[in-house]
Amino acid sequence: MRLEPFDLERWLLNPCTYDLANAGIVKLRLKDITTEIDFDMVMSYGVTRGSDLIRQRIAELFSRADKDDVLVTSGTAEANLLALYRLLERGDEVLTMLPTYMQMIGLAKSLGARVRSCYLREDEDYTLDIEELKEEVTNKTKVICLVNPNNPTGSVISSTQMRAICEIAEDVDAWVLCDGALRGLEADGNLAPTPVDIYEKGIATGSLSKIGLSGIRIGWLVADEKLVEECWTYKDYTTLSHSGLSEYLGTMALKRENVSRFIKRAREIIRTHSTILCNWVSENRWAVRGIPPKAGHTAFLKYTLDIDSRDLCLQLLKAKDVLVSPGTFFGSPRHLRVRYSCEREVLIEGLRRLREFLETRSKLSYHEVK
Ligand SMILES: Cc1ncc(COP(=O)(O)O)c(C=O)c1O
Repeated sequence: MRLEPFDLERWLLNPCTYDLANAGIVKLRLKDITTEIDFDMVMSYGVTRGSDLIRQRIAELFSRADKDDVLVTSGTAEANLLALYRLLERGDEVLTMLPTYMQMIGLAKSLGARVRSCYLREDEDYTLDIEELKEEVTNKTKVICLVNPNNPTGSVISSTQMRAICEIAEDVDAWVLCDGALRGLEADGNLAPTPVDIYEKGIATGSLSKIGLSGIRIGWLVADEKLVEECWTYKDYTTLSHSGLSEYLGTMALKRENVSRFIKRAREIIRTHSTILCNWVSENRWAVRGIPPKAGHTAFLKYTLDIDSRDLCLQLLKAKDVLVSPGTFFGSPRHLRVRYSCEREVLIEGLRRLREFLETRSKLSYHEVK
């Protein structure tokens, strides 16, 4: 198993004053979860699959899951790893969407799987072309990997499309693994569909990270009880246990009234800040194009400059102290992922500086968007 460097994750470590690169929201603080810690808490491994209570609370985020369908993990990252580690064998095929967060693609390749991809249709609000997906599925397709809501574009697969994807998967007996790290962060308030609610071989992964609690590292894998048991076996060999202290805090964060409060806060930031970004895009159509994101913390912008996206981002960082993420890290060159769920002032000043940079840079080189 040989893994390629995860370029995006290293890129995000670049120090900067205006961070428009991350896919996260302004973070919550410990006091937002509790001001009364139980200092008598026992520092043990606990139940390595997650306590009954936390699994029950996670199951409530889905319409057809119970606690036995849930495995607690260290973030969505570990949940995706366990699922693919358990499911893939050399020679299997995996079907993914592009652009996407590249973790599952990197993992699938390292496990010897062949990765086939479907591009989201940029000119149609980054929707998935179900006919194209159907054409890419073969008898060797073992897993269809989705990221819904999508990172980086902020698009959402509709319920009708999710149903169609699951039917296509069922025809070849494939699994549908849906990374739902951004689920709950839909601007219109409607939860993004997930295969686990409608398909026997559906798997949902997710975490508390994107509502502002990434430091807790509590995530989940939700699937049929048997697969959950098997992934738990794999966890015994990978991390053995998530952090007990994090489980304590995560259990409190997942209390219905808390999780609703955090989601409400996140959606409010998403609604107001994405409007700021969209207005900025409208004012700068000579330089960038993009569609209003439906969910999550980022928009994916196509730019007119004739320059590689990584070079552009490096020059921007050096000249203006603003970090955005190169599209090439998501499988789409000539694009930028721009985060808007940061502090309002950071967003406004970061965008002002980005505009200045594009103006200066476009005097050197200019390339029309078709
Ligand atoms: C789509 C997606 N999946 C997974 C992750 C990893 O998140 P976690 O903190 O839940 O491990 C991220 C982080 O940005 C993400 O955007």
